Amino acid sequence: MTLETKLMRYSLFLSLGMLLIVAACDTKQVQAESSPTTAVNANALSYPVVDPSVGEKLYPNEEALSGQIAATIEQSIRKQYQAGKARRDAHPKAHGCVKAEVRVNETLPENLAKGIFIPGKTYQAWIRFSNASQDASRADSKGDGRGMAIKVMDVPGEKLLENERNATTQDFIMVNHPVFFANDPQDYLSLFEKLNSDSFFSNLTIPFALGVKGSVIAWQTSRSKISNPLHARYWSMVPYQLGIGNDKQVIKFSARNCSPVAEEIPENPGNDYLRDALRKTLEKSDACMEFLVQPRTTDSMDVEDSMTEWKEAQAPFYKVATILIPRQNFDTAEQNQFCENLSFSPWHALPEHRPLGVINRLRKVIYDRISRVRHEMNSIERREP
Ligand code: HEM
Repeated sequence: MTLETKLMRYSLFLSLGMLLIVAACDTKQVQAESSPTTAVNANALSYPVVDPSVGEKLYPNEEALSGQIAATIEQSIRKQYQAGKARRDAHPKAHGCVKAEVRVNETLPENLAKGIFIPGKTYQAWIRFSNASQDASRADSKGDGRGMAIKVMDVPGEKLLENERNATTQDFIMVNHPVFFANDPQDYLSLFEKLNSDSFFSNLTIPFALGVKGSVIAWQTSRSKISNPLHARYWSMVPYQLGIGNDKQVIKFSARNCSPVAEEIPENPGNDYLRDALRKTLEKSDACMEFLVQPRTTDSMDVEDSMTEWKEAQAPFYKVATILIPRQNFDTAEQNQFCENLSFSPWHALPEHRPLGVINRLRKVIYDRISRVRHEMNSIERREP
């Protein structure tokens, strides 16, 4: 290896390390005095059973690791927030929660007309736009992952979560990057333990928790800047099923504006300029986004691998629905509070939209537990709208 290559590798390593340390410090800035830790509903839900027919395969010790990750996140929330003020652990900063309509295409090929995608059907929905950082006070002008969580309403049929079988919601959760930064639950746990550690040396080793590929994805995701939540492109990052029985296929999904919009980030952006941009756009006019589905085209697109992008050239996206966000004033105290109290989960789903792969299996038990902790700390009843 030449000296130049060594230096390049060393500086890449250092800059990744610095970025992740900055993220860790940001997290700690918002930590308040610690409060006692008690587990809420530690084992309320059963761990998902894998489906080998679509390529699912358990990681060693996966279920136990899901409990450890959930416990670490729970501990972090109880330490960070006082009772009555608990927020989401990830994506705590909302840009707004908007009312929307999901209009399924009038016609769809048979392989895509599954689950909620009934040709010609229109659903009411809520969409929560957010920043990913654990620091809810972080300025929008700083790089961050951006979230778009859709809650489709009045969806009939028994749902996947055994404690919410009769819920009438179907969630689709996305971030504005096509891939996730980890596959291995042990790596995820190590990252979280390091982020939550008060030891400087533990923080220094953060890049080792994710490896080079994971660190690069985390870095790319965390540096994104957008001008308006309505104009970004979002991806499911991880795979889902579409359909059931012999007809089932593996897909990812994505959402983007109906027509690309060139909009600059303001010169002196305020702390919350993404909320301002969303409000100003929707005060004036309706907004339109499209919902796309990307069927897997070969088994080498591994359901257990969330770190490798399915390139469009190999696996095209198909538009299945239009998301109409009507002109509205969403930014009211009442609606913001309603939004805070919502719980999104990939497992708020019909069997036709079953979440797949290790990251989604972990999310089944973690989202349920963390949302319960949040609602319990705030003394708010937790229920699907
Ligand atoms: C093991 C991996 C993951 C863990 C442990 C995790 C953890 C969490 C937690 C604890 C919350 C807050 C839940 C609540 O309080 O109700 C959350 C929210 C969220 N997560 Fe994840 N997450 C993971 C993977 C992902 C992936 C792959 C995506 C990509 C789409 C994602 C996107 C989001 C978004 C957009 C929200 C905010 C939803 C809302 O608006 O309420 N997460 N995550």
